Amino acid sequence: MSTTALTRNVLGVWGADGARWLAGLPATRAEVARAWDLRLGDPYPLSYHWVEAVTRADGTPAVLKLGVPGADHLPVEAATLECWAGAGAVRLLAYEPAWGALLLERAEPGTLARTLVPARDTEATAAILAVMRRLHAAPVPDGVLPDLESQGAAFAAHLRAYPGDDPLPRDLVERAGRLFDELCASAPARVVLHGDLHHDNVLRAEREPWLAIDPHGVVGDPGYEAGSLVHNPDPERHDDALLALVPARIEQLADGMGQPVERVLAWAFVKSVLSEVWTAEGDGSEVGGRALDVALALLPRL
Ligand SMILES: Nc1ncnc2c1ncn2[C@@H]1O[C@H](COP(=O)(O)OP(=O)(O)O)[C@@H](O)[C@H]1O
Ligand SMILES: [Mg+2]
Repeated sequence: MSTTALTRNVLGVWGADGARWLAGLPATRAEVARAWDLRLGDPYPLSYHWVEAVTRADGTPAVLKLGVPGADHLPVEAATLECWAGAGAVRLLAYEPAWGALLLERAEPGTLARTLVPARDTEATAAILAVMRRLHAAPVPDGVLPDLESQGAAFAAHLRAYPGDDPLPRDLVERAGRLFDELCASAPARVVLHGDLHHDNVLRAEREPWLAIDPHGVVGDPGYEAGSLVHNPDPERHDDALLALVPARIEQLADGMGQPVERVLAWAFVKSVLSEVWTAEGDGSEVGGRALDVALALLPRL
């Protein structure tokens, strides 16, 4: 994505606050660079945050991530990375809420796990599983991160907002909402979840073979974590070849996580519907991509 995509997304989600943030971005970058003694570099492909390669005063490579101060994501990202302390994820080097600024360890070479898809899909899933195992081993801190259960409210809100089958089939959302509650109530364990663990958020690194970035930390059933990677990458795009990989991915995930296939399948269904429900909440993108294809394909197997 380009800076145009950043502008469109930020205005779409944060409105006037987003416009103010975008206008102040050059000044914020300069202020943060001065305070943290950073040499600024080149931006990565941007979607909702300003993310750029930087160099610290001692020559260490790092990444500066800037977002709208007061928005939900960055405080949660910072708190989650702190829980992991570098085990399976990039380290948090500094965080200043007032600036909406995170300084992160840079994963190098930083190649995304998506580059293995579709030809080496099994390898991509294995890489994500290895990262997942590291992340889920962290102790759960008291009261720092939201419970997974809190995300269930999105299903009910969707059903209130949309009485019919547009933009999503109502029975699908109802089914996913019920299953979400059942799966949460029967969780075999509670762990610190990445919350959005898929091919664009797992990067090639040196300290460990792969490291996660960009967590949406919540605490709950480890099975939830299997959901995101089943309908990624590019969940908004129809792609029969990627859709065909879904059954094998689910088997591999169940095996790698030591979870029953039925639970992994159910979580994959629930997370695909949830992803579409979040899209319908209005980030400007279109409902009805591959996440919906995956949900419809899994429905007869529930
Ligand atoms: N710590 C990091 N090391 C290397 N590259 C990174 C790092 N953090 C982010 N990136 C790059 O920047 C891109 C956007 O970062 P991300 O945190 O996913 O932003 P957003 O929250 O807007 O999706 C990633 O896809 C990745 O290519
Ligand atoms: Mg991201």
